[in-house]
Amino acid sequence: MKLPNIKILDEKDKLLKTTSKEVNFPLSKEIKQDIKDMITYLKMSQIDEEREKYNLRAGMGLAYVQIGKPQRLFVIVEELEDGSFKDYIVINPKIISQSAELCYVGEGEGCLSINREVEGIVPRHARITVEAYDIDGQKYTIRVREDIAIAFQHEIDHLNGILFPDRIDKKDPYKNIDLMREI
Ligand code: NI
Repeated sequence: MKLPNIKILDEKDKLLKTTSKEVNFPLSKEIKQDIKDMITYLKMSQIDEEREKYNLRAGMGLAYVQIGKPQRLFVIVEELEDGSFKDYIVINPKIISQSAELCYVGEGEGCLSINREVEGIVPRHARITVEAYDIDGQKYTIRVREDIAIAFQHEIDHLNGILFPDRIDKKDPYKNIDLMREI
């Protein structure tokens, strides 16, 4: 595989604090190519040999703003148990319902734009239902749970200029941990 030529912004970049704009359809060739590149990048970051060869950090999600383009679009690449990959392309998403139950990633969340250790947990809804558009501009509804639900919420936050450390209680980074389920 050839590593796509994309540059991921670091959290110091102010663009990551802005609200991304809605995507217009039909998608331009440039956006379609960027979507492919982001998916390839994430896939390669999850394959041990590629990750080592190119010195990548493993990641499962990337918002468009993280490569410098503040439009409401993100991709997620999930490695399935059989070693294959499932891609999610999510454009102009809206959360239409969410579980009362909260959960968190035990070892803490990670982000390809945050290159430091961050102490604490991020409360997330255990299940959410999202309305979004696919690459052809078709509307669809998807219900996600557990780690994929967390990834969706993390990426939707990016579209609103929110980074995961913003959601950690500064005085008490493990606040309400007993009220939530660990993933
Ligand atoms: Ni992130």
